Amino acid sequence: MNRKGIILAGGLGTRLFPLTRAISKQLLPVYDKPMVYYPLSTLMLAGIREVLIITTEQERPRFEQLLGDGSKLGMSLSYKVQSDPKGISEAFILGEEFIGNSSVTLVLGDNIFCGEGLESLLKNPELDTRGATVFAKEVAAPEKYGVVHQDENGKVIKLLEKPKEPPTNLAVTGLYFYDNDVVEIAKEVKPSHRGELEITDINNIYLEKEELHVSIFGEGVTWFDTGGFDALLEAACFVKEQQEKGFLVGAIEKIAYQNGWINHDQLQELCLSLEKSGYGHKIISL
Ligand code: TTP
Repeated sequence: MNRKGIILAGGLGTRLFPLTRAISKQLLPVYDKPMVYYPLSTLMLAGIREVLIITTEQERPRFEQLLGDGSKLGMSLSYKVQSDPKGISEAFILGEEFIGNSSVTLVLGDNIFCGEGLESLLKNPELDTRGATVFAKEVAAPEKYGVVHQDENGKVIKLLEKPKEPPTNLAVTGLYFYDNDVVEIAKEVKPSHRGELEITDINNIYLEKEELHVSIFGEGVTWFDTGGFDALLEAACFVKEQQEKGFLVGAIEKIAYQNGWINHDQLQELCLSLEKSGYGHKIISL
């Protein structure tokens, strides 16, 4: 099945002011790479080769300068502007033409996922036979996220957007797999009391149709929402630690090679341009 990917990399980034006054959050460094490398690497691990990057108007040229048309990675990257941050669900309306008849995976531009078992979870063929799959993770402060509400048997009864009293610690992460119906569903969603087109509303529509699967990330998968100062720093330290142990995180050049989208010569050429920082050497040597 043809599946396309969207990275939602607009927004205001107010929780990171003044860091994000003049530059987009998703271009900030997370240790040795710009943040957007990490969500892009997640889509690539899922085998997704065609990706739309949604940014603000001001930042679009910088993302294009960084990633280009994707051909150097054996991918196709395109760009679209979101004029105002109207909510996550708007990604599917802005992306309608790009999505066409395909299934689509959305990843938030400030979400980092890492773990040895991640690739097999994201390449699970069942993702293509279900209407929608979201991934939840136990967190200390679920009230900042969409939260999974379960009955006593563990069956999901509703997803709640930023509830004041979360019924569980299971937060819905910023990685969502949908079939093609998501485009029409997104058009039905009305702004919430926060004035946003909520992704939780889309997920609850799939749930009502009994087409939502909630997959829970265990301890083996690490998730960072890098929207605040501490998480940004913790994510950078985590990436450094992992890489010192020999496990590269978010290395899009390496994944392109491992996916067979570029050959060894193309990888070498990419790494040569990254030689001085040591980043290119890390990729080649690992
Ligand atoms: P948020 O962290 O919810 O919003 P934000 O990035 O504007 O940050 P802040 O709350 O600090 O002001 O967004 C999560 C991700 O989704 C982030 O990568 C930005 C992106 N996003 C958009 O691109 N457009 C939108 O309309 C929204 C709501 C989010």
